[in-house]
Amino acid sequence: SIYSRIIATGSALPERAVSNADLEKIVDTSDEWIRSRTGIRQRHIAADGETTGDLAFLAAQRALETAGVKAAEIDLIVVGTTTPDIIFPSTACLVQQRLGANGCAAFDVNAACSGFMYALGIADKFIKSGQSKKVLVIGAETLTRMIDWNERETCVLFGDGAGAVVLEASSEPGVYATCMHADGGYKELLWNPVGVSVGFKDEPNHGVRIKMAGREVFKVAVKTLDSLVGETLEAAGMHEADIDWLIPHQANLRIIEATAKRLEMPMDRVIVTVDQHANTSSGSVPLALDYAVRSGKVQRGQNLLLEAFGGGFTWASALLRY
Ligand code: ACO
Repeated sequence: SIYSRIIATGSALPERAVSNADLEKIVDTSDEWIRSRTGIRQRHIAADGETTGDLAFLAAQRALETAGVKAAEIDLIVVGTTTPDIIFPSTACLVQQRLGANGCAAFDVNAACSGFMYALGIADKFIKSGQSKKVLVIGAETLTRMIDWNERETCVLFGDGAGAVVLEASSEPGVYATCMHADGGYKELLWNPVGVSVGFKDEPNHGVRIKMAGREVFKVAVKTLDSLVGETLEAAGMHEADIDWLIPHQANLRIIEATAKRLEMPMDRVIVTVDQHANTSSGSVPLALDYAVRSGKVQRGQNLLLEAFGGGFTWASALLRY
């Protein structure tokens, strides 16, 4: 049977890192509050004019270079993002043009923080169906563009960044299982209330902002991820003990710890980058994966459980052999 297999990873972060102490100067917050509630120590913030597409392009270029694959060999580009450069063309099309992969299929997936996991699940199906042989899967965001820097409840939580993988058809595993879910009933717990069709407002940033009921999101996230990882193990026909690494969405260290506990995994088997990157939405899982690979933690042949939860609500996962 055909599997899809990650043959290489890449990532990109804006140069500027902003510490909690830096934020203390602009809102009524403290390093202690941010660290103890979230685990975040710093975040990277895109420079003026630096876009989601720029970060996506860099991450993709690094993944292709590492894979030794030419852009012309790619037959599908899927970008998970909720902060595209422009409304259309899609960020996938913009990246395609810059890479020189013109002609292949390219589209964006908007599933908020689960965007990369959705993109990976879709790419896996394209490969398993025989439609695609080599796919570029990217998660990229500049979520800080949507932040109201006067609102301490949200502005301390997010950062910008991108990660990418090259996925290839293979007779060796590969992705064993992917899961995807959404529940639009939770729309107003985590959302951006304006857009092209609802009407931008005559206020700063046209009313574009992140609105979040933090405590409620926290509770649902923990519970939902609990059942998601169970479902994923079952779909792959595996058990907790078969997982070598948990690579979770990096929103909050306490949510990550709860999922690790559910999986009976010690924290030294969990990839944590939330301290360095904060919540980069669709960028978070592929950034964490690339860090895990390049630091030598994740080795070939190991089983990885990737998962994410975000606005929608959406939640999605993959269990794969790296
Ligand atoms: N600095 C200092 N104080 C703050 C800050 C801040 N930045 N933000 C809020 N506070 C205050 C609040 O006003 C509140 O004060 P009060 O008790 O006087 O009313 C107090 O801190 C406690 O607030 P809580 O909301 O109870 O804090 P909680 O422990 O729930 O932590 C947090 C808040 C970090 C947002 C947490 O709920 C969380 O992480 N939730 C999940 C949110 C999340 O992860 N969202 C993204 C995931 S989904 C996705 O990735 C899109």
